[in-house]
Amino acid sequence: MTRPQRATGAMINAFTPGSGHLSPEDEALAERRARLLGPAYRLFYETPVHLVRGQGVHLYDTAGRAYLDCYNNVASVGHCHPRVVQAMAQQAATLATHTRYLHDGILAYAERLLALFPTELSHVMFTCTGSEANDLAFRIARAATGGSGVIVTDNAYHGVTLATAGMSMSIGPAVAPGPGVFPIPAPSAANYPQGIAEGFAEAVTQACDRMAAQGIKPALLIVDTIFSSDGVYADPAGFLAPAAAAIRARGGLFLADEVQPGFGRTGSHFWGFQRHALIPDMVSMGKPMGNGYPLAGLVLKPGIIAEFGQKARYFNTFGGNAVAAAVGLAVLDVIRDEGLQQNAATVGKALADGLRSLAQRHEALGETRAAGLFIGQTIQTDGQPDPARTGRLVNALRDNRILISSTGPQGDSLKIRPPLPFGQANVDQLLTTLDRLLPSI
Ligand SMILES: Cc1ncc(COP(=O)(O)O)c(C=O)c1O
Repeated sequence: MTRPQRATGAMINAFTPGSGHLSPEDEALAERRARLLGPAYRLFYETPVHLVRGQGVHLYDTAGRAYLDCYNNVASVGHCHPRVVQAMAQQAATLATHTRYLHDGILAYAERLLALFPTELSHVMFTCTGSEANDLAFRIARAATGGSGVIVTDNAYHGVTLATAGMSMSIGPAVAPGPGVFPIPAPSAANYPQGIAEGFAEAVTQACDRMAAQGIKPALLIVDTIFSSDGVYADPAGFLAPAAAAIRARGGLFLADEVQPGFGRTGSHFWGFQRHALIPDMVSMGKPMGNGYPLAGLVLKPGIIAEFGQKARYFNTFGGNAVAAAVGLAVLDVIRDEGLQQNAATVGKALADGLRSLAQRHEALGETRAAGLFIGQTIQTDGQPDPARTGRLVNALRDNRILISSTGPQGDSLKIRPPLPFGQANVDQLLTTLDRLLPSI
């Protein structure tokens, strides 16, 4: 199938070497970077930011200037949080081994993590990255279902391994869809005018029919439960439940990819899937799980791993190591002790309300789609989504020391996803800056 070339946010905002935007020192650094790291990497922004330090919701450049971070969901409890850093350093100085020895740390962490899930989801397996977690889920699903087909959304991102890159339509047609991967439109009102819940479930069934026509059995429906790379689709809450039922009706499993929305970000719930009142067969997670330490995992129903567990053994050298477990526990402690999920709900609502009220004065602001501190904001011209204008705004915000990016197949929406300690003063700074910049963008 030939698909249009994607213009992801990162591509729109990418730096062009020699464009004269950088100081001679940073231009030399960018050239050295390209020489050493090769051609596949991209830098954010027309004028890339040279960062040296992070703290809370701020990042600092070589001149000591502070940037408000409105984008980073890895350092989710705040950049370089002292309790997380302390837990990491202390465990690294005590014991750093893998899962082939008995150790209490990984079990203490597993108990705390699993307590955050419905009781049906009672096993956890550890990896280092979200890609590995999704890749493992696919292997397990193949063993459990005897199928191999995968359904993803049209601009999904699920990882960098061969299998998960093939599920990542947002990387572009050279990579995805991989063999046996069947994309369906993202759950927007525009794609499903007859109703998102019914339409999305019907699209799953139709994808299963397309698989059957090619002699492929379904293994997995995998979705990022906030649809972050598709453009952020949160509402109406509950719309995912019929889609999960639809894949199960055809013998496949439902995998909730919580790499983006997990760990309290959506405010009302700890996990994105909980907004949809369903229990996934498997849940993958990563990014915020270690607040910057490479920690990721897969939570699943025990029945699903029975077949895989008999035929294969699982060992991941660094996944679930003693340092990772200590870091993971500290992250959960901080989320609880600092009330970060509640903060995501309150401050996220203030930000979404503020954007909607700004939209009354600025025609460039279209639809605001939000759940807690995860917001997609369409940027438009004459009522039509405008990727070029979005790119200009992202760069102008960067020049005003606010770091943000864009999302959606054409990159026509701001993706606002700050560290969870984001406060009202930070909301005010973002809204005031948008108010000032929008008329001239
Ligand atoms: C929804 C989603 N799933 C999976 C991944 C892959 O995670 P990682 O980069 O840790 O391999 C990402 C990374 O951006 C993601 O956004």
